[in-house]
Amino acid sequence: MRIRFPARLSAVGAFLLTLTLVAKLPPTPTGPALDAAVENLLSQMTLAEKLGQMSQASRQPYVDHIAQTKESIRKGDLGSILNATRREQIDEFQRVAVEESRLKIPLLFGLDVIHGYRTLFPIPLAQSCSWNLELVEKAARIAALEATAEGIRWTFAPMLDLTRDARWGRIAETVGEDPLLASRLGTAMIRGFQGDDLAAPTSMAACGKHFVGYGAAEAGRDYNTTLIPDTELRNFYLPAFKAAKDAGVLTYMSAFNDLNGVPTSANPRTLRKILRGEWGFTGFVVSDWTSIDELIPHGFAADGREAAQKAISAGVDMEMVSPHYRDFGADLLDKNELNPAMIDDAVRRILRVKFQLGLFANPYTDLATARTSKNPLQPEHLHVARQLATESMVLLKNEGALLPLSEKLKSVAVIGPLSDNGDDMRGCWFCESIPSDTVTPLAALSEALKPRAKVLHAAGTKRDIDESTEGFSAAVKAARRADVVVLCLGEGRDLSGEARSRAFLELPGAQEKLFDAVAATGKPIVLVLFSGRPMVFSKQFAKARAVLYAWHPGTMAGPALADLLLGKAVPSGKLTVSFPRTVGQIPVYYNHRNTGRPPQKENVGLPMGTPQDPQGYFSKFIDVHSTPEYPFGHGLSYTTFAYSDLKITQPENAQGSLTATATVKNTGARDGVEVVQLYIRDLVGSVTRPVRELKGFERVQLKAGEQRTVVFSLPTRELGFFNEEGRYIIEAGKFHLWIGGNSEATLRGEFEL
Ligand code: NOJ
Repeated sequence: MRIRFPARLSAVGAFLLTLTLVAKLPPTPTGPALDAAVENLLSQMTLAEKLGQMSQASRQPYVDHIAQTKESIRKGDLGSILNATRREQIDEFQRVAVEESRLKIPLLFGLDVIHGYRTLFPIPLAQSCSWNLELVEKAARIAALEATAEGIRWTFAPMLDLTRDARWGRIAETVGEDPLLASRLGTAMIRGFQGDDLAAPTSMAACGKHFVGYGAAEAGRDYNTTLIPDTELRNFYLPAFKAAKDAGVLTYMSAFNDLNGVPTSANPRTLRKILRGEWGFTGFVVSDWTSIDELIPHGFAADGREAAQKAISAGVDMEMVSPHYRDFGADLLDKNELNPAMIDDAVRRILRVKFQLGLFANPYTDLATARTSKNPLQPEHLHVARQLATESMVLLKNEGALLPLSEKLKSVAVIGPLSDNGDDMRGCWFCESIPSDTVTPLAALSEALKPRAKVLHAAGTKRDIDESTEGFSAAVKAARRADVVVLCLGEGRDLSGEARSRAFLELPGAQEKLFDAVAATGKPIVLVLFSGRPMVFSKQFAKARAVLYAWHPGTMAGPALADLLLGKAVPSGKLTVSFPRTVGQIPVYYNHRNTGRPPQKENVGLPMGTPQDPQGYFSKFIDVHSTPEYPFGHGLSYTTFAYSDLKITQPENAQGSLTATATVKNTGARDGVEVVQLYIRDLVGSVTRPVRELKGFERVQLKAGEQRTVVFSLPTRELGFFNEEGRYIIEAGKFHLWIGGNSEATLRGEFEL
């Protein structure tokens, strides 16, 4: 039976009704009962209703559009709605679906709940720098609690795209440049969103996106073409998506990009052969926003009719926004241009997910959890947001141990366009958060330093992109009067995210000049950089005494920053993308191949080469180092760590695991957390292998002076790779293995398979 609330049932009444009826709800079917329920429903559906389930519309807030939407729902023309956010509206649309449509199939409401709903956590790229799977999972769980309280049972996350290009604005949404790390973080997010019980009203379907290769956009220009060799697709771009499948992700989203000449939203090889065939995925695939219609400008379909035919045939089950499935599906079947079994298969997959989410049993927002939304900024949620923001920030420089700031300081100048701007702290995909919820750096530092030190403030420039220097004199004056300057620069939220590619990665607007003006005062500068991507800031780095990369930290930006600057917390974040020295160096990434003429660190930058190679004919630039500015895995602490005693124990047989251990010691005077990383290199392969590959990591908490043996168990099956035939193989031979604090770790051992 279904609970049907009258349209305007009072909240209390509905809550009581829920309590009375909840015990009587039929259990959500599983196993053969689930298949039977799906088949039963499918057998009653008309073709139009099937195509309706395969269509998703975006909510638009206009009154006439709402009436039209209701009419479409009533006719069974829609299976899902995205971008509806208010519980009342969602429940009203749902009421029309389950009371007024012929088959009473509930709608699935989707939204981009990317890094929080009302409480915002750091952007995904920042979260990844915590390397803290448990905390990342907690954040996703909280996001799910807040979003489901408003009736949203499907999030378009996690984004599992890998990229090697900081120009791409969507790098902000990625979880770093490494397939293993992305697999683990993506899995943690899926666990958080989907919860322990899919049918619980607080669980939401996750969506692995964008399938696949979207992050390889040429020149980092969003939506651009991608050309990815098969070995690279399978070894680098696909593993995080496969891990999502293994974690039980309910949906995937096809992408915008053209992959080797076949757009990913109509690509039978990736969707039918790999995702369904090889991996056995049983959930459904939604297209990206109008990406089926975009098959026309791609030059892959002549019109909407052909676009629908190609996308359905390739295995895109639901069309987001464009209407071609609904408009042309019947005609395509009529003319035998589409296999009817494909339509049934798509609908089956969609209905299955709706059953799994318990929507047939309980289609409405759960009023018990909806109470959460009345008080969205709950202390526990804010606590996790603060902790994750603290662990996401990466300390890049701390000359003379300027940080944590001395308790003796009498005055601190907090300067910069991002020092008191709650809006910009939110980053891209800020969902239902509101800027005034954010605690800014200025607010938090003023509070934390009260009454022992005076806080002076001047923005310098109003916005990140402002060219005006009008505010400089006030900034310089504040700096002069202070003992230390906390300079908050970088990109506001609008400079990263979808369709926000940049060709210049330096500080935008007049910020470089602002930095110079403040630096000219001679006051020590703590440079805090907020951004959705790696930026290029070597000149400012050289002049600042301390540099903290804070990304877009979300609602608790200020408190997290204050905790770190004032020493209440110790930095532990480590970069999950390599930072380029200059745009011309891109792509620069840690797990590259060696080439036949590998660059040599010591002579890079010398146009004439070295004594060993006077001609300098090796793979290098003549005007910049070939190494990154800051490598993958790098991040400082207020203490230091030393590594020793690397030991490797070979597995007994090919199916076993090898064990690698090392001692890590906190050699400084403060307690701290180190992200211990394990890398390998397969020295010779039938396909050349990366110079380093991350194979394990662990966050280790160590008191000052404490040491611990860290033990990694590395199954032999994880030492293989996909060859040119697309087969996963493990080859005998020599390997190097490193354990250390970043991808340039030097403590090395060897083993042989
Ligand atoms: C387009 C984006 O590419 C995708 O990530 C997002 O989920 C959809 N729009 C829906 O908002």
